[in-house]
Amino acid sequence: MRSRRLVPSSIPISRAALLVAHVLLCSLPGIVSSKSVILSSIKIFTTHEWMPTKPTIYFHCQGANETILPDVKEKDFLYIFSGEESWQPLTELPEKKCRRCGLYEHNTLKSDDVFDEWELCPSNFVHGKYVRLKRNEFNATFVCPQCTAFGMTTWKRRQTVLLVVVSIFAAAVMAAGVAAVYKYWRKRKREQDQARFLKLFEEGDDLEDELALGNAIYK
Ligand SMILES: *[C@@H]1O[C@H](CO)[C@@H](O)[C@H](O)[C@H]1NC(C)=O
Ligand SMILES: *[C@@H]1O[C@H](CO)[C@@H](O)[C@H](O)[C@H]1NC(C)=O
Repeated sequence: MRSRRLVPSSIPISRAALLVAHVLLCSLPGIVSSKSVILSSIKIFTTHEWMPTKPTIYFHCQGANETILPDVKEKDFLYIFSGEESWQPLTELPEKKCRRCGLYEHNTLKSDDVFDEWELCPSNFVHGKYVRLKRNEFNATFVCPQCTAFGMTTWKRRQTVLLVVVSIFAAAVMAAGVAAVYKYWRKRKREQDQARFLKLFEEGDDLEDELALGNAIYK
């Protein structure tokens, strides 16, 4: 009887725990945001323009706009960027997918010159860093804190899953705790009520006895 009465009272608590877990799971895509790629440094070893003008170097990914690197004009000079430049981030990478990107130079007469063209993948990045070196062409360092190769993303996902599991477990433990306290409180209350009831009876008996006694004396 008692345990049957306890079950309905504990259901809303586990329902609340489920709700908390649901909210947590739904906010996951927000936590795992897109992966911005930043150009951290670049050194070009050559220019392709034979005219005596300053080169216009740009980075371009298929399906996106060109990003002109306005400062990169001299060869054999190491340009270092903070990532806050107006043209940064260079590009965004989708989850678990590469983009075909390249480094190019505008050509006034014919089609643009290609420094290099390659598949830029989240898995290229080791500890959020990726160095692309092409002999006699350029040496560039890309930074993407969210896309670290092998390891970082899986590690992060594992961490998130662990967090969710621990949250659900904690909520369940809390629900069980609240249910146990409630059960104990009800038991205590019932015992107290019973005791009070019995005491009332005893007092009633005493009163009756006294009355009977009094009647006997005064008779
Ligand atoms: C490219 O640039 C144009 C204008 O600057 C903008 O309207 C468009 O959305 C851009 N496209 C992409 C894919 O970013
Ligand atoms: C390429 O650039 C990185 C970062 O600046 C540097 O550590 C590396 O030594 C460079 N490699 C060459 C061959 O210049």
